[in-house]
Amino acid sequence: MVRSLIDITDLSTGELEELLETAQDIIAHPADYARLCAGKKLATLFFEPSTRTRLSFEAAMYELGGNVLSVTDAASSSAAKGESVADTAKVISCYADIIAMRHPKEGAALVAALNASIPVINAGDGGHCHPTQTLADLLTIRREKGHFDGLTVGLCGDLKFGRTVHSLINALARYENVRFVLISPEELKVPSYVKKEVLQKQGLAYEQTTDLEAAMPELDILYMTRVQRERFFNEEDYLRLKDSYILTPDKLRGAKQDLAILHPLPRVNEISVAIDKDTRACYFKQVLNGKYMRMALILKLLKEAGTL
Ligand code: NCD
Repeated sequence: MVRSLIDITDLSTGELEELLETAQDIIAHPADYARLCAGKKLATLFFEPSTRTRLSFEAAMYELGGNVLSVTDAASSSAAKGESVADTAKVISCYADIIAMRHPKEGAALVAALNASIPVINAGDGGHCHPTQTLADLLTIRREKGHFDGLTVGLCGDLKFGRTVHSLINALARYENVRFVLISPEELKVPSYVKKEVLQKQGLAYEQTTDLEAAMPELDILYMTRVQRERFFNEEDYLRLKDSYILTPDKLRGAKQDLAILHPLPRVNEISVAIDKDTRACYFKQVLNGKYMRMALILKLLKEAGTL
């Protein structure tokens, strides 16, 4: 089976380092990378809405000199006729060299990888995980802070359904003395499988709170997230919880001067636009970093598959 990226833990710490280094080299010397994927095709299969992730994969492939085939919604693909993910993966393997797939069902990318003959990249599977967003997050933290060890990381918002949060915890858990402050309403706490399998198993320091402002002064990173409306079972709960946290300039009063504020985007209401001009706001830089990390990842997986 060729190498895919389904979960961030599929990559060793050394491989994360290698991807971060490649991305930084791409930033410094883009022309050296501009033809490396000439003649190769990326298929983006997105069965859930996306702006950044799909377009950043596509921009990444174009900037490597490659081409893109794209399915942008389930309704316009054979999934609407009842085709299985397994069959779709087999079919796309006949047309493309690598797949980036987003799907509403947890585990769908894994099913695709088990059936494809080309690398599959999980671009988000339901409320489970989103490893390439984590790659964007890691490059952002590396460029802002220079290191991961010893950071206090506040994760705020929908920690239950927010797949980016689950993957980021998994990635940062491997560094020394990282502390997590998990800030959410009671109903949207980090799932117990993440707490048991990652935080507790690895003996990591974490605290859970509902109070963002009280946690603020100790944070080096504040990772805000959107309440994931599409994963709620009823609209009433969503309406009650959607504005649990709204980051405004006054809430930053107690924050460190070198705090880095991240958000995977899209933002709904949880960060006031007044924060955008604060030098601590990193979420638009994070978008750009995502493209560079996806370029590095595409290169790595195509090399390992023997395609490059
Ligand atoms: C995230 C996602 O799809 O999980 N978006 C993204 O890929 N940048 C976060 C979100 O949708 O809230």
